[in-house]
Amino acid sequence: MIELSGLTKSYARGAVKAVDNLSLKVERGEIFGFIGPNGAGKTTTIKMITGVLQPDTGRIVVGGVDMLAEPVKAKKLIGYVPDNHDIFDRLKGIEYLNFIGDVYGVPLKERRERIEKYLTMFEIADAAGELIRSYSHGMKQKLMLTGALIHKPPLWLLDEPLTGLDPKSALSLKEEMRDHCRAGNTVFFSTHVLEVAERLCDRIGIIYKGKLAAVGTMDSLRSGEKDATLEKLFFELTEEASL
Ligand SMILES: Nc1ncnc2c1ncn2[C@@H]1O[C@H](COP(=O)(O)OP(=O)(O)OP(=O)(O)O)[C@@H](O)[C@H]1O
Ligand SMILES: [Mg+2]
Repeated sequence: MIELSGLTKSYARGAVKAVDNLSLKVERGEIFGFIGPNGAGKTTTIKMITGVLQPDTGRIVVGGVDMLAEPVKAKKLIGYVPDNHDIFDRLKGIEYLNFIGDVYGVPLKERRERIEKYLTMFEIADAAGELIRSYSHGMKQKLMLTGALIHKPPLWLLDEPLTGLDPKSALSLKEEMRDHCRAGNTVFFSTHVLEVAERLCDRIGIIYKGKLAAVGTMDSLRSGEKDATLEKLFFELTEEASL
């Protein structure tokens, strides 16, 4: 579902190499967790997968479609939730959702059903008529998650989706991620919550200084150390145990 080959991205005219020759494949139906320390390159990688950022070099293929060659076709396959949501303040929640529905051409009946389902699930239905400006961080997060699901994206791409969610909403989200994959779709998300990655993901990728330090199932990452936690592996691979 996602094929990244040799992705490289620098900022500040090459002074900061945020992503460094990264190659990765994520299969259809997988929940893939992307972890790594602050500044490791997670958000930069995710933004390149969405087509928001262009790589300096490398190739991105989503659902068999080359992002650089056919960006609109590739983007239609993606439901993206960024790590900050300061941009849609002047719309009401429901206006935002209908806007997303229009952009992706979701028929009205399905749109209404899905909006109702997710707003109820995330317990923000009562706020749908309010301006997004008045929402709390968690409410904005839930609205963005709803928006990203309206068109049933084959790839649900989430940058730190659990940040700011209360335990009940976090549980609903994790269940929805599972359901989304069970229906044959793919979920790729970044997180700092290692316990969630450990329990929820089919496979995990650890990124450090722009490079993929490890990738695989929890079992394969443990490689023999059968009781090793993801936290322990994380520190080993990102050299932070000595701090
Ligand atoms: N717009 C930018 N201009 C310059 N440097 C940037 C920019 N965005 C990111 N960087 C740098 O690129 C590197 C990777 O950043 P990125 O945001 O991808 O990390 P991350 O893994 O998402 O971190 P976090 O866990 O804090 O969200 C960091 O060194 C960061 O300082
Ligand atoms: Mg980030």
